Amino acid sequence: MNSTVAASAAHLSQFPISSGGTNWQWLYTTVTVVVSLLALEQTVYRYKKQHLPGSAWTIPVIGKFADSLKPTLEGYKAQWASGALSAISVFNIFIVMAATNDYARKILNSPSHAEPCLVHSAKQILLPENWVFLNGKEHVDYRKGLNLLFTRKALAMYMDVQDQITRKHFAEWLSAAKADPSAKEIMMTARNLNMETSLRVFCGYHIPDEATQEISDNYWAITLALELVNFPLALPGTKVYRAIQARKVALKWLSLAAHNSKKAMAAGRVPECMMDQWITVLADPTYKGRKEFSDHEMAMVVFSFLFASQDAMSSGLIYGFQHLADHPDILQKIREEQERIRGNDVDKPITMEMLDQSTYLRAFVKETMRVKPPVTMVPYKATKAFPIADDYTVPAGSMVIPSFYPSLHDPAVYPEPEKLLPERWLDPESTANKRPQNYLVFGSGPHRCIGLEYAMSNMALVLAHAAMTMTWEHEITPESDKVQCVLIPIPIYAWPLALAVLWAVR
Ligand code: HEM
Repeated sequence: MNSTVAASAAHLSQFPISSGGTNWQWLYTTVTVVVSLLALEQTVYRYKKQHLPGSAWTIPVIGKFADSLKPTLEGYKAQWASGALSAISVFNIFIVMAATNDYARKILNSPSHAEPCLVHSAKQILLPENWVFLNGKEHVDYRKGLNLLFTRKALAMYMDVQDQITRKHFAEWLSAAKADPSAKEIMMTARNLNMETSLRVFCGYHIPDEATQEISDNYWAITLALELVNFPLALPGTKVYRAIQARKVALKWLSLAAHNSKKAMAAGRVPECMMDQWITVLADPTYKGRKEFSDHEMAMVVFSFLFASQDAMSSGLIYGFQHLADHPDILQKIREEQERIRGNDVDKPITMEMLDQSTYLRAFVKETMRVKPPVTMVPYKATKAFPIADDYTVPAGSMVIPSFYPSLHDPAVYPEPEKLLPERWLDPESTANKRPQNYLVFGSGPHRCIGLEYAMSNMALVLAHAAMTMTWEHEITPESDKVQCVLIPIPIYAWPLALAVLWAVR
């Protein structure tokens, strides 16, 4: 590299720099600076990478930006296959990818060395004071209070709302299918169901129908703005600007929900939703945590739940529908189990106890997310030099990415890993059950998904109702089995690409 700089300098020195040569001098200086910076970039990259697998040189300035624009699962698989730890660089962000379960868990469980890495736009959208940006003890303490929103008792309370909203959407799906039975993409259909379910579970009926509609209509702008690389200023017309407007709409309604919920609980109304649950917990004299939360703070928390759940849950559900359409034998077993549990009464609302008895359905939910994990990896950032292996230390400031997919497809833990086999979860002696640490669908450590139980129970509820009230077909297209990775900074979701589902009344 140094010889490159020297050669360029020698070459340039042959240009005449005399009278009227100020321009040449400028050119000479500029080129020297640029060439030196490029050489420095390569030196730093190679110094950080050391012996890790990865390109010997990084593409100047942009690195592997082109690959990151259209990430594919195949591309990631190649990266994981290249080594337990491997290196890439995108726009001079040095990235270490961890492929094994041990390394992934080490990153997730080393809060003193690594913390979740959110792109710049995430703070603009979620607001810097949002709890999701806390780390260390502050994060643990805040989260302790929020865990009370996801107790079994609380989850059982939310189930009525989930049941009602799911039935309402299915009725709409079925009447739309009657009017036009052609195959349609399910992505937006599933997103809309999730959005309304989430909003009603979080806010109950403390917000009007128009609020759920308005938040839902605007929310896609937020997903779009969470790309790894974005125009830094939130100027009108940019994606980040549109996302900020969407956040304002959402926070306005969510603050209203907090306000109304406080009033309703003070008036002695029965708690029906997550806001109500939160206020009830805070009012409990035995509760030792922080007691006062403003409407805005409560709205921000609920917004963070929407943000964290919307895409992951939609992806999980879409694959659930796809897998059941592709495996009629599994669908049949779910139906038989549900018929047994409900005594053939399809109108019976699902309860927690019914889900407890739905052993096969729950095994299916676990397995569908193992085969096609909604979150394939979560970027973390090394807050200081992170000695991840005996022979390698992740440099401070680097991105370090624990990958979930390889752990979830490890043939030693999940024999025939590509096969959808709910039965592997029914045998207590199976390697799947003996090695729970490989099941990284919801992460691990202090930032492990707080909504895990809620997410699993909602997926089970939706798919159980679907099995009992509808039939649907998966129209196979050349794209059906491809996975498109939507590179949202945290987490990186794997979306099913071009899925078409045909609805018909059963
Ligand atoms: C199928 C659905 C879901 C999947 C696959 C999923 C997956 C994940 C993953 C992988 C993480 C990062 C964990 C880590 O860094 O170790 C996470 C974090 C999180 N999830 Fe979920 N999630 C889902 C649904 C939900 C739902 C429904 C909620 C809320 C109701 C939620 C709220 C959160 C929050 C708040 C965090 C950040 C927690 C923290 O930083 O302490 N998620 N989720």
